[in-house]
Amino acid sequence: MSDFSSSISTKLVHVGRNTGVSQGFVNIPPFNGSTVLHHSSADMKERTRRQMNGEEVLTYGTEGGPTHDAFYQLMNELEGGVGTWAYSTGLAGCVIPFFAFVKAGDHVLVTDSVYGPTRQFCETILRGLGIEVEFYIPTIGEGIEELIRSNTRLIYMESPGSHSFEMQDVPAIVRVAQKHNVWTMIDNTWASPMYFQPLKVGVDVVIHAVTKYIGGHSDLLMSTATCNAKAWLLVKAVSTTMGQLVPADTIYLAHRGIRTMKVRMEAQFKSAQRIIHWLEQQPEVEKILWPAHEKDPGYPIWKRDFTGASALFAVKLKDSIPDAALDSFLDNLKLFGLGYSWGGYESLLIRSYGKRSKDDSTAFEKMLRLSIGLEDSEDLIKDLQRGFEALRKETP
Ligand SMILES: Cc1ncc(COP(=O)(O)O)c(C=O)c1O
Repeated sequence: MSDFSSSISTKLVHVGRNTGVSQGFVNIPPFNGSTVLHHSSADMKERTRRQMNGEEVLTYGTEGGPTHDAFYQLMNELEGGVGTWAYSTGLAGCVIPFFAFVKAGDHVLVTDSVYGPTRQFCETILRGLGIEVEFYIPTIGEGIEELIRSNTRLIYMESPGSHSFEMQDVPAIVRVAQKHNVWTMIDNTWASPMYFQPLKVGVDVVIHAVTKYIGGHSDLLMSTATCNAKAWLLVKAVSTTMGQLVPADTIYLAHRGIRTMKVRMEAQFKSAQRIIHWLEQQPEVEKILWPAHEKDPGYPIWKRDFTGASALFAVKLKDSIPDAALDSFLDNLKLFGLGYSWGGYESLLIRSYGKRSKDDSTAFEKMLRLSIGLEDSEDLIKDLQRGFEALRKETP
């Protein structure tokens, strides 16, 4: 812990600011650069030597710079990590750290609710390299012990799943992993660093698609992997060896975005609650998938482990609704954008989709996923009302 207050609000505002570096300005600007000039030949030798010994010394732009360091410092502080690296998309951060831990002949356990493109990476690239990938039921909890083999190296989690919203019992899975000396990684994007800090329950690497709530403005693609002391140097080495560096301009946007994340997420949460309450009264709605909802099967774990919820949830409509009626619903929305991603300041709505190896593959039919933005919730309800009216006209 640094000498900052333990309050997340204060950390979000103050950590990663240094007026010495920014020459008095409030924000550290984007330092873009490739070459770092050294004072002398001796300085060059000395800095290179220290770097080879694992010290954080800047000798070239691929290592980052002051803009990166400031943002990494904030992520470390929020997650309780010792090191953070950034990646060029959300997906890159989910997949590149795998290579720090696994090699041909190893076995990895991946939640069946994993983000689709991460699943695709596991099914194609990992399997192609001779790594055994096994998908497990997200709610398995300590039952995961039965799947551990002598060559199991890594357990990958995502809680809740970003389309199906099952909560995972992360502390139980970590206990099993630690007993068997298995690495753990988690995609923590839904909770954001505000509502769950997986490193504090023993996870080794926590990933955020910064693209979502941290960036918050739908104008960047990026992710971070924040690590505990055991994992950090391995993850950093693999990331730099694979040439991953996010431009300082993007890091700057991420840092600017995260400063207001708390107020955005709190407002979006309240609005989501109101909208969910209204949705539940619509006769076409079968159920809401949102762990912060008391009727959700994941609610007890959410209540135990998380301190808040994001405004991304799904609505399962009745199977009897024709497909064309659902299309009409979408086409009549004026405020909700029809677009992929989530966590921005604007509301989005899509039809849920996904692939499962263990569950019923029709699980996502007649399901909508909503990301609630910062618009007035009454206006958003009116928009959904418009959608339902159009849907009713097309439903026999
Ligand atoms: C849970 C989750 N993780 C990772 C990603 C990847 O983020 P990006 O779109 O920036 O690649 C997404 C994107 O939708 C996501 O939903």
